[in-house]
Amino acid sequence: MLSTILLWISCCTISTLAQEATRYFPETPIGCSLENNCPAEWPCCSQFGQCGTGPFCVGGCNPRLSHDPGSCLGQPALLPRMSPSFWLQSSLEQKPALKSSFLPRVQPSMDVASNEGGEKDLNNRGIVNFANFLISPQERIIKKMLRDYHFTYSGFVKYDAPGQLTLAMPKHTSGSLISSTRSFLYGRATVKMKTARGRGVVTAVVLISTVGDEIDFEFIGGELHHAQSNYYHQGELNHTRMEKLELSSDSFENTHIYEVDWDQDRINWIVDGVVARTLYKEDTWNEEKQRYEYPQTPMRLQVSVWPGGREDADPGTIMWAGGLIDWENSPDILEKGQFYATVESIAVTPYENKFWPSIVDELERLHLPIDANSLLDITYDYNYDKFNEHTWFEDSVIWKKGKLPYLSSLDKNGLNPGRQQQSLLVGKQLKQEQGDGPDQSPSNRFIQDTNKPSEKNHEEQDLLLRNALQSRDATTNGGSSHNNRNPIKRLLNMLH
Ligand SMILES: *[C@@H]1O[C@H](CO)[C@@H](O)[C@H](O)[C@H]1NC(C)=O
Repeated sequence: MLSTILLWISCCTISTLAQEATRYFPETPIGCSLENNCPAEWPCCSQFGQCGTGPFCVGGCNPRLSHDPGSCLGQPALLPRMSPSFWLQSSLEQKPALKSSFLPRVQPSMDVASNEGGEKDLNNRGIVNFANFLISPQERIIKKMLRDYHFTYSGFVKYDAPGQLTLAMPKHTSGSLISSTRSFLYGRATVKMKTARGRGVVTAVVLISTVGDEIDFEFIGGELHHAQSNYYHQGELNHTRMEKLELSSDSFENTHIYEVDWDQDRINWIVDGVVARTLYKEDTWNEEKQRYEYPQTPMRLQVSVWPGGREDADPGTIMWAGGLIDWENSPDILEKGQFYATVESIAVTPYENKFWPSIVDELERLHLPIDANSLLDITYDYNYDKFNEHTWFEDSVIWKKGKLPYLSSLDKNGLNPGRQQQSLLVGKQLKQEQGDGPDQSPSNRFIQDTNKPSEKNHEEQDLLLRNALQSRDATTNGGSSHNNRNPIKRLLNMLH
């Protein structure tokens, strides 16, 4: 949760459209909580608790906190039998549906030229900027995205060498995040990596759902012989659940394999093949609330590096992260100009859940083979009839087939993907969208040009970040004390 809440910052650092007139979040950030859902103009509540449109309505959009639960797009599902035609062939016995060491695809189906280390190179390895994913007026492009992209990224992500995807945090930035494009309900996620080091620097391997269920490994950069295992239920802050796991060796110098094996009955946290912690669902029963506080909604896998010890962070967070980050004299800043974690490979094997039989039935009814192509457009969503209930269980989850999840441009949300919301478009963009064919629309150009991060972009990103932080801190300090979804506030309350 800590990582979740603080990482919302990363979302805003990727204002890739600095020169574009279309914005997908307001100049003054608007936060979202259970008490304050997003307004109609900026209907989608991002994973990081900020309101917007476009990308904010795609991965991680929280239906409980959005203007309308339908503002969020359905989540592309990661399902059994997607392997191996979608993803790289696996040598593991149990074939994962998602396996990537981020090598180039054998036959790239996106028309991208090699551009080592840049956006196109990432695209060619199945990674796309989160602001591009599932946003295009052309269904043909959407299908290619669903097929070709395994991960979205934000921040400073670079493919440096075989088995070396670097998630960096340069000086005074908010770090990097990659997130699987598909969600799964139960499965095994395997991440082989080296974590970042340095006081206040946090590395995280997290499964997270749009309604805030979470299963975590977190690594504090000043404490390299331990991992913190943790879980959260529905975004509720509860600090009694963390358990420290001892590592056999320094996690910065040495590659370890971190795995979460999650099914309907239990969660195993596994390090280098050895189960280090088990949580049983039956032990999460809350007598008072008459419910299991067990993660049970579809999750995406995320790996991130973020600044827990940022100087303007909350004191409780800085303390948890081991202290303030030394942006000037840390060895990695001196030697490489950045903190960094290195991901070697990732695999996810989704399990057959209670939805699987009905999905198979439906494909048979449609006379379709049970393969990756037929499963391409299957999404997980929630039953909005249950929207007013306080807790979202596995029973609130539904699946859909037959409707591609996408938005035609950055200013759209899930409710009216095809509808023009011209009031949100200004100047040049509006003219282009009106005057030219769909091929010239902003989001389509966006994909063709891609948004190769430049120094200038980074400066703009940081300015945005600072604005966002100031605004958020103002809300934090002056905001309603009833806002118990505000993690910083709750953390402070807990510490006092
Ligand atoms: C926090 O989690 C523990 C363990 O699941 C549980 O016993 C406790 O009631 C929870 N606290 C709150 C305030 O929900």
